[in-house]
Amino acid sequence: MPSVEGLGPRRAALQLLDAVLRRGQTLEFAAGRITGLSAPDAGLALAIAGETLRRLPDLDLLIDSATRQRLPDDSKARMVLRTALAQKIALGTPDHAVVATALPLVDGGPRRLVHGVLGTLLRRGLSRVDEPKLPAEVEKRWTGAWGTAAVEAARRQIARRPPLDLTFADDADAQAYATEHGGISLAPRHVRLASASVADLPGYDSGGWWVQDLAASLPARLIPADAQDVIDLCAAPGGKTMQLAAAGHRVTAIDASESRLGRLRENLQRTHLDAELVAADVLTWLPGHQFDAVLLDAPCSATGTFRRHPEVLYRARPSIIDSNSELQAKLLDRAAQWVGPGGILVYSVCSLEPQEGEEIIGAFLRRNPEFGVDEPFEAPPGQTILSEGQVRILPGLLEAEGGLDGFFIARLVRKR
Ligand SMILES: C[S@@+](CC[C@H](N)C(=O)[O-])C[C@H]1O[C@@H](n2cnc3c(N)ncnc32)[C@H](O)[C@@H]1O
Repeated sequence: MPSVEGLGPRRAALQLLDAVLRRGQTLEFAAGRITGLSAPDAGLALAIAGETLRRLPDLDLLIDSATRQRLPDDSKARMVLRTALAQKIALGTPDHAVVATALPLVDGGPRRLVHGVLGTLLRRGLSRVDEPKLPAEVEKRWTGAWGTAAVEAARRQIARRPPLDLTFADDADAQAYATEHGGISLAPRHVRLASASVADLPGYDSGGWWVQDLAASLPARLIPADAQDVIDLCAAPGGKTMQLAAAGHRVTAIDASESRLGRLRENLQRTHLDAELVAADVLTWLPGHQFDAVLLDAPCSATGTFRRHPEVLYRARPSIIDSNSELQAKLLDRAAQWVGPGGILVYSVCSLEPQEGEEIIGAFLRRNPEFGVDEPFEAPPGQTILSEGQVRILPGLLEAEGGLDGFFIARLVRKR
């Protein structure tokens, strides 16, 4: 059988989807394991898998509208049809290329069925899907927690790739960079650019900035300027460590993962910033003293990052959210012991699950009466501060400017 051009990346896209949907891996991790493809082909495989995941429920509705019997969710035919339709809808692949690269993927299988479904749908004409549905369980959970407006905003946001945010060590550099390179600055030391490849951006080697969603930069901004000794828990790859070091704090950064700490070390070298690094488990490590401020950016379901990582919505099953929240409560109790009297404890998660945010802090305050919520603090751009000293970033915030990752942040103070 003659080889069909462009088959390699399509095959790899199927492998990526299998890794995400069946084995619970992240797209980035699975993509790192693809071998034998050129960089552009590997990029195409990742784009096909990513665009498929951005609109999976809508692709399935299309497929179901053209089959008499519902294809099983994990069948090869459904997987191939999903990726073929995503290419047509999101990547503008011409019809003949969609069909020619899909059929060999089901050789020895339901080739006629796939051909028939694709033919029907392509003849019918496929419109863009500008507000794709989120997975049904996520829509139910988020509608209950945040209401329909937030879910509708999330639908609009998952359809497109988000802009790229940079955090600068120095605000004058940020403002000059925004002017020179056509970016916008939504906060001090921040520049937002249209999506671009990081390595191609001017000034990468000079080390004056690093990539960090604006929402992810908010927790470190809430550490008081006069806190001298600051500890950053769960610190790697170090976006917040770099902010704290650039702001002039004396920073200790801890992470349990040696390899992620290696990336933090490289980041500090590139940005010419300094912090003491500790490879340790926060649950067992003992510091020699207490700190003026403690930042805990806890491991979480990361559902707030769905714009960049659409697969999080499939990985964050209720059992995973449950086990995350157990770990978060333990990490927070541990972090609290290291806050000196009058000191500040900032807790953050890039999650849109109340179980990992509001509920963790509510239960912590009931268990630890020596802590209270801090006074209202300076509002991050566009955000209303809740009276309890907490920030909840929902989809829809700053949407016209390109949106933000979903986040929860609380700033607590040790009263005695
Ligand atoms: C959300 S990421 C941190 C992102 C980081 N704060 C930043 O701004 O770049 C969570 C980190 O927690 C680390 N981690 C998870 N459990 C840990 C534990 N028990 N002790 C220390 N680090 C842990 C992971 O290795 C991971 O790097």
